[in-house]
Amino acid sequence: MTTGSIIAADLILAVLAAAGWLGGGAAATTGRRRLATGLAILALLATLGRAATTVALARAGWWFAAEKVVIAAPLSLAAVAVGVRRTPMAMFFAGYAATGALLVTVLHGYPVSAGAALLAVAGVATATAVTWRLLHGRTSRTAVAVAVVALVGGTAFAVEPTAAADHDHRPVTASRAGEPTKRFVLTAGTTGDAWAFNGQVPGPQLDATVGDVVEVTLRNRDIERGVTLHWHGYDVPNDQDGVPGVTQDVVRPGQEFVYRFVADQAGSYWYHTHSASDIGVRKGLYGVLVVRPGRPTGVEVVVAYPARPPLTTTASQPGTPVRFRLINTDSVTHRYAVAGAPFTVVALDGRDLDSPSPLTNTVLAIPAGGRFDVVTTAPAALFVDGRPVRATGPLPPAPGAWPVLDPLTYGTASPPPWTRVDRTLTLVLDRGLDLRGRLPRYAHTVNGAADPGIPTQVVRRGEVVRLRIVNRSLVVHPWHLHGHHVLVLTRDGKPATGSPLWLDSFDVRPGEVWEVAFRADNPGLWANHCHNLPHADAGMMLHLRY
Ligand code: C2O
Ligand code: CU
Repeated sequence: MTTGSIIAADLILAVLAAAGWLGGGAAATTGRRRLATGLAILALLATLGRAATTVALARAGWWFAAEKVVIAAPLSLAAVAVGVRRTPMAMFFAGYAATGALLVTVLHGYPVSAGAALLAVAGVATATAVTWRLLHGRTSRTAVAVAVVALVGGTAFAVEPTAAADHDHRPVTASRAGEPTKRFVLTAGTTGDAWAFNGQVPGPQLDATVGDVVEVTLRNRDIERGVTLHWHGYDVPNDQDGVPGVTQDVVRPGQEFVYRFVADQAGSYWYHTHSASDIGVRKGLYGVLVVRPGRPTGVEVVVAYPARPPLTTTASQPGTPVRFRLINTDSVTHRYAVAGAPFTVVALDGRDLDSPSPLTNTVLAIPAGGRFDVVTTAPAALFVDGRPVRATGPLPPAPGAWPVLDPLTYGTASPPPWTRVDRTLTLVLDRGLDLRGRLPRYAHTVNGAADPGIPTQVVRRGEVVRLRIVNRSLVVHPWHLHGHHVLVLTRDGKPATGSPLWLDSFDVRPGEVWEVAFRADNPGLWANHCHNLPHADAGMMLHLRY
C-alpha cells in the first residue's frame, strides 16, 4: 500500500469508528441492545484498524502521524475504555471522543499543537455535558468544568499570534540588464469572456536567443484585477519576477511596467499573470517563452496546454527531426504521448538531461507548470490525455495503457555540484481550518498555516538549502519555487538515480516526501507555492527570503 492510500484508509476508519459509537449510542437509547452491540464491535474494529494505519503512517514519517499519535490515539483509547460499557451515555461519549480523533486530523493535522488538543477535549466535554443533561436531567459538573478549562486554554493557544508573512520588501536587485536586443509589448485586455495578451489566447509566443537582452512592456488596458508578468521557470533577478505586492506593484488599468532581463539560459518556459493568477491564467493571460541557443533546426512544435487546438497536421518529410516543446499551463497534471516513432526527452523545465535514452510506448506525465522537450522524427503524432493534438504525417493508432516515465530514473547520473547541505526547510502540505481571515475557510495549508499567515522562510545567501516537501493530503500538489531550479535528491527516501534533474515544477503526490536542493544564489523575496492555482489561492503559498 502506498502512503497515500494509507492516509485515505485511515480517514475512512476514523469515520467508521465515530459513526459506530454514535450510532450505538442512538441504538442503546432506543433500547435496541443488539444493534448497539453490533455497532460497538464495528467501532472497536475500526479503532483497531486505525491503530494499524497510525503505526504505518508513523513509519512513513512523523509528519504523517503526529496528531494521530499525540491527540487522536488517546481520544480513541478513552472512547474504547468507556464505550464498551454500552450504556447510552458511555457510547455517546465514545462517539464524541472518536469524532474528536477524526476532526483533529481533518481540521488541524501537522504540526501537533496544544491548542488543537485542548479544543478537541473541549469539544468532547461540551457534547458530553449536553448529552448528560438530556439523558439524565442533571448537570455533570465534571464535564462542564473540563469543557470550560479546555476551551479557555485551547483558545488562548489558538489565538496566540504567530509570525505572519512579511511582504514588506523592496527588491534587493536593481536590474541592469543592458540595452535590449529583443523588444515585445504585451497589452492585457478583455476580449469577450477571455482575458488576453494582444487579443489572443494564449498570448504571443516570445522567442529569444541566448545572449539577448529581452525587454517586455506590459500594458493593462482594462483588467480590473490588475496584471503582472511572471516568467515561469526563468530565474530572473527578483525585481523582474512579477509577483504583485512582493516584487512589484500590480499593474492597474491604464498603467504599464517594463521588464528587462538577460536571456542567459536556453529552454522552454512560459509567462503568466501573477495577479489573481488562478482566474487570470484560466481566462487566458499566459503565453510561451522560448529561448534557443541558436537558430532553430528542423521542425518545432510548441504545445501549451490547455489551449485545445483541433488536430493540426504539418506534413513533414519522413525522417525530419521534430522537437516538441510541451508546456503544461494548466493547474493539474496532463498525460502526453508521442506515437508513431521513438522519441527522446531531451530537457525538463528548460534544463537538458544527461544521456537520455530513446523511448517508445511511454506516457509523459507533465506537472502543472512543467515543460518537457521531446525530440523525435517525422512522421510522429502527439496525444494529450488520449486525444490527438499534433501530427507530422498520417495519424498512428492512439496510445494504449502505456507506462508513465519516471524522470528520477531516466538518463545518466552525475555527482551533485556541492558536497554539503547548509540548511533544511520542511514543508508539510495538507488541508486545515484557517481562522485567521475575516471568514473561516477550509484552506490548503503548509505546516498548518495558510497564506498570508505562513511565516516567511529565511536562508543566507550562498547556502545550499534542502527543501523537504511532505504531502499528507489526498490530492497532488505541483510545487513551484520562484527564482531557482532545484535539484531532485530523493523521493520517499530513495535517491534519484537518473540524469541530474533541475526542476522548477514537480508533482508531490499524496503520501510522497520529496527532497530537493538549491543554492541560494539569486537573492530576494521569492514566492514558493503550489501551482495548482486554486490551491495557491486557498492558502498554499509562502515566501523565501535572503
Ligand atoms: Cu507559474 Cu508563482 O507561478
Ligand atoms: Cu496544491
